[in-house]
This record gives sequence, structure tokens and C-alpha cells, in this order.
Amino acid sequence: MILLEVNGLKKAFGSRKAVNGASFTVRRGEVFGLLGPNGAGKSTTISLICGVLKANAGSVVVDGFSVGTDGANAKKRIGIVPQEPALYPTLSARANLRFWGTINDVPADELEEAVNYVLQVVGLVDRADEKIAKFSGGMKRRLNIAAGLIHSPKLLIMDEPTVGIDPQSRNHILETVKNLKDKDITVIYTSHYVEEVEYLCDRVAVMDNGEIIAEGTLPELLEQGSQFQELTISVDTIPDEIENAIQALPHAEEVIVQNEQLKLVTSNAEKLLPSAFAAIIGLGGTVSEIKIHKPNLESLFLKLTGKALRD
Ligand SMILES: Nc1ncnc2c1ncn2[C@@H]1O[C@H](COP(=O)(O)OP(=O)(O)O)[C@@H](O)[C@H]1O
Ligand SMILES: [Mg+2]
Repeated sequence: MILLEVNGLKKAFGSRKAVNGASFTVRRGEVFGLLGPNGAGKSTTISLICGVLKANAGSVVVDGFSVGTDGANAKKRIGIVPQEPALYPTLSARANLRFWGTINDVPADELEEAVNYVLQVVGLVDRADEKIAKFSGGMKRRLNIAAGLIHSPKLLIMDEPTVGIDPQSRNHILETVKNLKDKDITVIYTSHYVEEVEYLCDRVAVMDNGEIIAEGTLPELLEQGSQFQELTISVDTIPDEIENAIQALPHAEEVIVQNEQLKLVTSNAEKLLPSAFAAIIGLGGTVSEIKIHKPNLESLFLKLTGKALRD
């Protein structure tokens, strides 16, 4: 059963087309990944889904309610975890959640129970009465997730929830998302981290330049990218001409230079590797490390766009 249907969504800021005809569907009970590099249009898409921004074209239907014509009903069904936590530092975790519950129309006689429940979901019960000013970034993110869940939404939309936090909090958040599945909450998980999306998501839409360039289950997308392999070659000094030289070799699909490394997408690693190696040496470069990766969403993205997901 389809819970969210996004169709032909468009949003421009001046001449910049932030979202340019995006369409995808999210089914009930799945963790849906929206994967794309910085600037792809993920946050704008989220703002359009929850009605914070008005679309120039297209439609969003949540659980049968159109965000355009029946915004109040649509909004009730959506919980948002924004990139920047919207929390009051001088209040306790509990008081912050009471506040979010109240403005999201949680009935007064259900509020305390709802607060306790979401504190438990994110593992903050024992810190509930502390002022959050002293919380770590990761704890604030977890509280932000709790705030998004306070009104029992059917769909929780998380905007890059692990950016800039410590690895332990990150793992905690990933496990929390995994567990939401058992609670019949559908999740849209926005990220530019391939590993997180591969770990969490049942289906994925890959976004670039405001467009959805691939959509499917994780196995479907990996299959789509499976004829390609990604190689990383670390080079001590990268010769200027190397990108063009390797691009010209047989079986080189994409070549990018990033942080003293060459990333290659190839249809045949065994054939490309020796000639790429020779080209680097021939131009005076020194190879320090070579890695051959299994096909993943990164290699698919690289193949589809010629760019890396991360800068
Ligand atoms: N309020 C805004 N005004 C002008 N440009 C914006 C605004 N919000 C986003 N953009 C631009 O739209 C594009 C998509 O941004 P965004 O949706 O934030 O991408 P992402 O979340 O994938 O990083 C970017 O080029 C960004 O600079
Ligand atoms: Mg964003």
C-alpha cells in the first residue's frame, strides 16, 4: 500500500531549479532512502512534502490526503526531523517534548504518555529531566527524532540525521531507525552517506540536480550498478593530465580526482587496472594504494552522474 506519492514536483528559487520534476512513491512500513549529494534538492523536497514550501508544480499525497488541498490532514500524518534541531536549550528534554506535543495537537491527557514513549524510543529516559543545553550533538539529534514522533505520525521524514555527530550517537540513531519499522512507522531517510542508506533502506530514490535519477529496491539498484566496479587508486602526486589519460583508456567509464585519489568506474577492472597503472607511472605519478570495491550505490551514482556523492 502506498503511503506517500510525489508526482512531478518542482520548486525553483529564482533561476535555480532546486527540485525539477521529482516523482517517487513510498510504501507503508518501509524505510525509504532519499540519497543524493549536497545541493541535490533533498531538503527542498522534504519542505515541499510537509507543506513548509509551496511547490511551483506537481503534487504530494500522504495517506490519501493532498498536501496542496488538504494540508492540515496531510501534516498530521507526517513527523519531521529537520537537519537543524529546533529545541529550547534552557528547557529539559521532557519540557521540549511537551512543547512539541502541544503545538502538534497531542491531547493534554495523552501528552505525558506520548512524551514517555518517545523518550524510550530514542533512549533518553534517564536524561529526560536535564536541561538540554549540556546535551551532546548526538543527544540533541535523538531528542529531535523524539520530537518528530510525538504526535504518532505515520510517516517520519529525517533530513540527514547523522551529519556532524560522533560515531556512537550515529550508531544509536541507525538502530533507532531500524526499530521504527517494528512500530509500523514509515520512514524517509535522507542522506548522502551510501553506507547508511544501504544499511537501513528497503527502497531508495537517488536524487541529483533536483531530479530522481534512479529508484528501486536496494537489490534492484545494486543490480543496475553491478556491471560496473569502482576502483580507488591513491597517488602521492597526481599528474595534471591523468584524468584525461585514464578516461581515454578502454573500459574506463568515469574518472574523477578527489583528495589525492583517483576514483574510477570500470566495466572491466582486470583490463583497466594495468593500463591505468602504466598511465600514472608514465606521467610521473607514484601509486601508494589500490582498492577494488564491490558494486554499491556509490558506483551506481558515479556511473549515472560522473560525480562522487561526497565532496
Ligand atoms: N531558500 C533557498 N533560496 C535559494 N536557494 C535555495 C534555497 N534552498 C535551497 N536552495 C538551493 O536549492 C538547491 C537544493 O538545495 P537543498 O534542497 O538544500 O539540497 P540538499 O538538501 O540535497 O543538500 C541548492 O542549490 C540550494 O543552494
Ligand atoms: Mg539538505
